[in-house]
Amino acid sequence: MTSSEIRNSFLEFFRSKQHAIVPSAPVVPYDDLTLLFTNAGMNQFKDVFLGAGKRDYSRAADTQKCIRVSGKHNDLEEVGRDTYHHTFFEMLGNWSFGDPSEPDGIGRAGYYKKEAIEWAWELLTKVWGLPKNRLWATVYKDDHEAEQWWKTVTDIDPLHVLRFGEKDNFWEMGETGPCGPCSEIHIDRTPNGSATADMVNAGLPELMEIWNLVFIQYNRDENGKLTPLPSKHVDTGLGFERVCAVLQGKNSNYDTDVFTPIIKRISEITKQPYNGSLQSTIGNRQLEIDISMRVIADHVRTLTFAIGDGALPSNEGRGYVLRRILRRAARFGRNLGMHEPFICQLVPTLVETTSYIFPEIKEKQEHIQRVIKGEEEGFNATLDNGLKVFEEVVKKVRSSQSTVISGEDAFKLYDTFGFPLDLTQLMTAERGLKVDVERFQTLMKEQRIRSREVRNETTSHRVFLQGEGKNLKPIGFVGYEQLEVDTEITSIVNDLNGNVVGVALENTPFYAESGGQIGDRGVIAVLNNDGTLEGSVYGVVDTFKNIQHVHVLKYADSDLSVGRRVRAKVMKETRISTERNHTATHLVHEALRQVLGTHLHQHGSLVAPDHLRFDFNHFEKVAPEQLREIEEIVNAKIVEGIQVVALNDAKDWLTIDEAKKRWPNVKMFFGEKYGERVRVVEVDPSFSVELCGGTHVKNTADIGYFKFRTEGSVAAGIRRIEAVTSERALELLKDRERTLNERIEYAFGQNEEVAALGRELGSSIAAAKNFQRRIETIQQLGKVAERVSSELDSFFAQQHSRDHQLESLILEITDTKKTLEKELSKARVKSAAGSIDAIVASATTANGVKLASAKVSAATMDELKTLGDTLRAKLGSGVGLLSAVIDD
Ligand code: SER
Repeated sequence: MTSSEIRNSFLEFFRSKQHAIVPSAPVVPYDDLTLLFTNAGMNQFKDVFLGAGKRDYSRAADTQKCIRVSGKHNDLEEVGRDTYHHTFFEMLGNWSFGDPSEPDGIGRAGYYKKEAIEWAWELLTKVWGLPKNRLWATVYKDDHEAEQWWKTVTDIDPLHVLRFGEKDNFWEMGETGPCGPCSEIHIDRTPNGSATADMVNAGLPELMEIWNLVFIQYNRDENGKLTPLPSKHVDTGLGFERVCAVLQGKNSNYDTDVFTPIIKRISEITKQPYNGSLQSTIGNRQLEIDISMRVIADHVRTLTFAIGDGALPSNEGRGYVLRRILRRAARFGRNLGMHEPFICQLVPTLVETTSYIFPEIKEKQEHIQRVIKGEEEGFNATLDNGLKVFEEVVKKVRSSQSTVISGEDAFKLYDTFGFPLDLTQLMTAERGLKVDVERFQTLMKEQRIRSREVRNETTSHRVFLQGEGKNLKPIGFVGYEQLEVDTEITSIVNDLNGNVVGVALENTPFYAESGGQIGDRGVIAVLNNDGTLEGSVYGVVDTFKNIQHVHVLKYADSDLSVGRRVRAKVMKETRISTERNHTATHLVHEALRQVLGTHLHQHGSLVAPDHLRFDFNHFEKVAPEQLREIEEIVNAKIVEGIQVVALNDAKDWLTIDEAKKRWPNVKMFFGEKYGERVRVVEVDPSFSVELCGGTHVKNTADIGYFKFRTEGSVAAGIRRIEAVTSERALELLKDRERTLNERIEYAFGQNEEVAALGRELGSSIAAAKNFQRRIETIQQLGKVAERVSSELDSFFAQQHSRDHQLESLILEITDTKKTLEKELSKARVKSAAGSIDAIVASATTANGVKLASAKVSAATMDELKTLGDTLRAKLGSGVGLLSAVIDD
């Protein structure tokens, strides 16, 4: 079976058991402050488990994108070194919400341990045909019920059902939140099926956990206390990549079709072979290559899906986790000889193989690649230098016989070369060394304090408000229509020190921060028994959603208690200003798309009373003329006075499909988690329709006027505009006008030269026109001159080439002449040599010395000398005299 067939058969199986098949939530949990990334399929149902939310269905199944790199569930260290842990993975899951005796609106009741166990067994052994003798089940030590179901509703070998304690069989999503005992299914992957009980939960790849059935019963609060939940639920999670390996008969997840295309691509790009090796003696090059490829194949999935769901690498929180992952991958890339950005080049392969199930990565592909490339470039610039420094540090540590890298050195690598601590730790561990983490953390803390002092930043009160309150009740938000309501306190929210810092209410007109719109401010006044307003009045400084709407109070006292009647009143002015900015945000979103292109998507926004901020993907600065055009479009819509249609009554809300059908142009914020039914806000059906929970003006004319304040960049490929509306826009215009006038006055008043110039310019328009005509004439003349000059140029060029030809002809003639002269001289010498014999023969003798003399014909001294040489040779001992007439 291919991986997509496996995924489908899981979903189809649970569809046949009356489960609603729901989409994966984004991997970035925008509405849960306790999580950086979605770490389990159940995250999107947290509110249902806690009794604070409801769905139309009581059974659901899906495949959920998960990232486990921080917090309670963190698999980072194992990735690449083994074959079955990942930072990003898909979790197939099935859920049951609530009481089995109460059917949902569609007539299906929830279920519990029996069905969860029975169906898991049926899918694994009957549908997928896994050998029963290779399956093992574990149960929580006290969970006799689950143990009994295993032994009665399945035909598992009873000796394969084992009890474990809290560490292995009590599942929790994080430090706080829904949790409960669980029952896990493990598979024996030894070659001959010879696993033994002691191998279960021993962290061995030969006996791997594949499916976790959690029976959610409790909520853990921030003090660690477990409170039973109103109902019991089922939450199961089956590791998709693991089950693919099992069903495709592979030992490694990286050998399944989920990973092979990516590994193949890494291999092509890096020109290195992948061998799949897992163990070796230290220093084996192939093992290093294989681990590096696995790490990179894993990390690129995390980066792609997280960025696709709206996260961006940055220096804090979620963004820093991504940055760490990318830097780790880049450093493993060095092991493969990669010095240029290459991780970004793997994204298309992932899009090709995965976007049929997660289309968001196709839609955002260009953005994802640009962000990754930008990050790679940034880090590559310092990575080599950092690696050199690291090597020096290692040498220093070794030569001092130590095994610990100082906190200072690790901090320097972090601060100057961008090495996240875990990267330094990883490289240090590869050398058998350690980092002084404590000292590093102290230095980090000091730096944070320093930079906070610089920015004069205060810690947000939210840090202390991560709990769920006590009395969990669904939120009754009435604030679309009402700004004031008499209601009752349902929860008291404490900070970590136990101080009362906020309350939750039965009904509330306070909008809680979401979708970028800030939480409402206002007052909560305690009412007397007769409903009169005699009690204390508390200022609400913020409202945010954490299951309930938490109203943060400036000060709280003992007359706040669960059940107290209060009057909750939102500050109208702030709310109205915020609404102007919210509707303006919708208008500017559409205007930006019309002017800059439909590639543009929202990447986050802030809607506050005094301004709005909107981030979007675009790869260049927005030009001033474009900004003007966008402003004009927005202001035209304001002047049109369009009625804003918002579905305020929750009964009118639609499913996403219904909304898409009615408004094919409806905008959704990618990465936003929408509920079953969505609220739609429409400003001219052909202009702006958005899924949005925020509050808006009734008519666009209420916005008054719209003006950009700033435009800039926030990250690679992400631009940010800030704008103001209404009186703030007028203030901005007045401010600008004032500044402009001041500058003009300054220039003209303070500088005599500029003033004179101004006067001259102002009074000489005619002269300027005259001047313009003269310039035109000169330009005409210039053109004629140019033509003449170019003709002259070609004439000279021809002339030049003729001279050149002549020169070479002369050279040729001279050469020939020289050759001929040489030939002639040779011929002459040859013929004169014949007469030398006669001269020798006619030699006379005087006193025993031979004497020969003659006049010969020679044209040059050289010829005469040659004849002289011949005579000397032929005469032997004697005196010879030759004469010739040369050149007369
Ligand atoms: N929440 C459980 C897990 O993540 C089962 O889905 O393992």
